[in-house]
Amino acid sequence: MKRLLSGIKPSGALTLGNYIGAIMRFVELQKQLTDTEFYLFVADLHAITTEQNPQELRKRTKEIAAMYLAAGLDKDKTILFIQSEIKEHAELGYLLQCHTYMGELERMTQYKDKATKQQSGLTSALFTYPALMAADIILYDADYVPVGDDQKQHIELTRDIATRFNNRFGDFFKVPEPIIPKVGARIMDLQNPEKKMSKSEASDKGYIALLDDEQTIIKKIRSAVTDSIGVIQYDPFNQPGVANLLNIYAALTDKAIEAIVEMYKGLGYKEFKEDLAHIVSTRIKSLQDNYYQIINSPELDAILDAGRAKAQSYAYRKVEKCKQKLGLGRKK
Ligand code: TYM
Repeated sequence: MKRLLSGIKPSGALTLGNYIGAIMRFVELQKQLTDTEFYLFVADLHAITTEQNPQELRKRTKEIAAMYLAAGLDKDKTILFIQSEIKEHAELGYLLQCHTYMGELERMTQYKDKATKQQSGLTSALFTYPALMAADIILYDADYVPVGDDQKQHIELTRDIATRFNNRFGDFFKVPEPIIPKVGARIMDLQNPEKKMSKSEASDKGYIALLDDEQTIIKKIRSAVTDSIGVIQYDPFNQPGVANLLNIYAALTDKAIEAIVEMYKGLGYKEFKEDLAHIVSTRIKSLQDNYYQIINSPELDAILDAGRAKAQSYAYRKVEKCKQKLGLGRKK
């Protein structure tokens, strides 16, 4: 049996980018990979690398757990849990920091981006974050890690850390493979299509939140930045706004980009945006219908308890063995 693992950080509202680049893929992969266990979690320890309001953090943590299920993940085939409820994530995170080089962390583009945007108050945990992420993955010997494009570098580092450990202490951690979607791996901001769509943005016009209402979604798509060329074609360099909308369209309809371009030949941006607004809002509406049922049901806690129990027993044994390898504590 193979194991797939991925996580989402509750640091802001979940966006259409998270849905297309990650959540929606998990559901598709679950249908395809029938011999694979799914470990999915809410990365709350990652969220606190930047300042969070405790009440909001707790609320969002639960929201993400509910959203995984609302998107269609099968609760009987998914080990769903909250990262901070398994102490071994932090413990292995530290052990792996001892096998991660400063130079490697300094090269992480996500850290560099944040460091340029925010000059002061950067925490040391934000810097060492990729070692914790590596721990999340290799703690469970995951074979596959589906993520959007922005996390690819972190998975590459995870592979390097695991390989380094194995070379020194013998084959111990599984070296994971990333799975990056072909379409929709990087959904861009609707107002600034040169930038990734992100829940951490201050302005909410550039992203669609999965809990936005229908009218808001329609308005945001209508006002998405395009260009003055006026032709619907896939040219990310000269028409990044239209290319982004085409990516969203393709990801949500399973149509090839060329087929969509063909459908809108001779038509203007207005018609295209109206259709896309309908596609996005219909999909999000059905997601929300499921979501509101789940978030208010006691079953969610039961699923998270079961997920914790299962993840916990694997994590405990793995970290104990790892500590033995490193020579920590007394010999057992
Ligand atoms: P996070 O919470 O930023 O994002 C969760 C997932 O959503 C994807 N994603 C996107 N995909 C396409 N377009 C976008 N605009 C977009 N924005 C986000 C991300 O690539 C990701 O797959 N460090 C991780 C969370 C994490 C994790 C892990 C993931 C912690 N431990 C272990 C995998 C395995 C993060 O901050 O993702």
